[in-house]
Amino acid sequence: MTTRSVPAIPRSRSLLNSVRFLRNPLEVISENLKHYGDTYTFHLGGIQKGMMTANPDIIQHILQKNHRNYRKSPIHFDKLARFLGNGLLTSDGEYWLRQRRLIQPGFHRTRLAALTQTMNAEIAAFLDRTGQISGASGEVDMSRTMMELAFRAVARSLFSADLPEERLLQLAQQITTLQAFIIRLIRQPYLEWWFNLSGATAHHRHLSGGARSTVTDLIRQRRQKPEQHDDLLQMLLDARYEDTGEGMSEKQLIDESLILFVAGHETSANALAWTCYLLSQHPESMKQLRAEHEAVLGDRLPEFADLPRLEYTLQVIEEAMRLYPPAWITDRMAIADDEVAGVHIPAGSMIALSIYGAHHSNDLWDAPEAFRPERFSKENKPKRHPYAYLPFGGGPRLCIGNSFAMMEMQLILVQLLRRFDLELSPGQEIEAQALITLRPKNGLLMRLSRRTAL
Ligand code: HEM
Repeated sequence: MTTRSVPAIPRSRSLLNSVRFLRNPLEVISENLKHYGDTYTFHLGGIQKGMMTANPDIIQHILQKNHRNYRKSPIHFDKLARFLGNGLLTSDGEYWLRQRRLIQPGFHRTRLAALTQTMNAEIAAFLDRTGQISGASGEVDMSRTMMELAFRAVARSLFSADLPEERLLQLAQQITTLQAFIIRLIRQPYLEWWFNLSGATAHHRHLSGGARSTVTDLIRQRRQKPEQHDDLLQMLLDARYEDTGEGMSEKQLIDESLILFVAGHETSANALAWTCYLLSQHPESMKQLRAEHEAVLGDRLPEFADLPRLEYTLQVIEEAMRLYPPAWITDRMAIADDEVAGVHIPAGSMIALSIYGAHHSNDLWDAPEAFRPERFSKENKPKRHPYAYLPFGGGPRLCIGNSFAMMEMQLILVQLLRRFDLELSPGQEIEAQALITLRPKNGLLMRLSRRTAL
C-alpha cells in the first residue's frame, strides 16, 4: 500500500498556538481537526513532533490491532508515578501485564455485585447530607459534590468501613491536592525549578507520604484481622501471581490502591456532573429516566441484577460521555515504524488519540453536538465503527474500572433523581476545561429541590 501524506501544521504555527493550546487545548484541536482533517502532524510546544488523530481505524490499530508496537507516552505518567507510585495506570510492558492479569479478576461482575450494597449505602448517606447542607437556596456545586461522592464510592469499595471519616477526608484532601500539583507540573514543566526551590515539591512529597501512610495502616490492620471483606483491598490482598503463587508486596499494594483512587474518582465524577448538566437542559430526558426507575424498581434501591434493565439510564450516561468524555485524549509512542490506513508512523513518534475528536466527528455521527441518548439503543449501537466511541479507551489497556464506573453512575443517578429535582442556577457560562480530565471550568452550580413524591 502506498502511504499518503498527512497534513502538517507548520512548526511556526504550532509555536504560535502553544500558549492558546495550554489555555484551551480542546478548541485548538477541534479547529485543527476541522481544518486539516482527522489526522495531522504538529510540534508539541513548538518542539517535539507528534501526530494527532481522531480517525477510528487508526485509533483501533494503535490501541488494539497492533498494540504491541505502542507504549504509553511518558508525558503524563512519569509525573503521576513520581508522586503516586507505579500502579496499573502508570506502568508499562511486562510489569504492567503481570499486574493487569493479577488485578483484572477483582473487577469481575461477581465482585462488583458484592459492592452494590456498600455503594448504595454510601450514596444514600451522602445525598441525605447534601440535601441538608444545600440549605434554603438548595444551591450546590455539582462538580465538587460529585467529586466528593465519587471519591467516597472508591474509598468504600476499596476499604469498606475500615477507613474512618476523618481519615477519609484527609486522604481525599491529600490526593486531590497532589493531583492539582501534578497537573501544574504537566502544564508548566518550565516552572519545575521554581517548584523545587520554593519548597512546593517537598510539600507535595510530604502529602504523598501522608497518603501512603494512611493506606499502609489500612493494609497492615487488614492483614492482622482474619475475617474476610468483600472489597477491592481484600481482592488485592488475596490475588496471587500465577507463576510464583505469591501475592503483592506492601509497596505494590499501596501503589495500586492509590492509582485506583486517582484513575477512579475524577473521571466518574466529571461524567456525572456533565450528565446532571445535560439533564437540566433536557427535562424530557429526566422525566423518562424517572419513569424507567419507577417501572423497573418501584421504590426499592437497585440491585446489581437490575442494572442492565435500566437501559435508558445507561444510554443517557453513554451519551453524556460521548459529548463530554472525561478522558478526552490519550497518547502512545511508536516502538518501530508502522503504517495504518496509508499513514506512515515513524519509530519513536508520539501519537495523540483524540477521543473527544472521534466523539464529535461529523463523519462518524449525525448531528454530533446534539444530545440524543437513543444513539446507544441496542438497535443503533451496532451501526457504528467500534472505535467511534471510546470513553474507556480500548484494546488490552481498556479501563479496568469501566463496569465499576457504569454501575456506580447508574446507582448514583437513581438515588439522586429520586431525591431531587435538578435545575441549573441562572447566570452561568458552562465551559469545558480540558486538564487531565474534562471538567466544567468554573464548576456547575445547580439548585437541588427535594421531591415530595418519591
Ligand atoms: C467514567 C469513568 C471512567 C472513565 C471515563 C475512564 C477512562 C479510562 C481510560 C480512557 C483509560 C485508558 C487510558 C489509556 O489507554 O491511555 C482508563 C484506564 C484505567 N482506568 Fe479508568 N475510567 C473511568 C473510571 C475508572 C474507575 C472507576 C477505575 C477504578 C476503580 C478506573 C481505573 C483505571 C485504571 C487502573 C486504568 C489503567 C488500566 C491499564 O492500563 O491497565 N477507571 N480509564
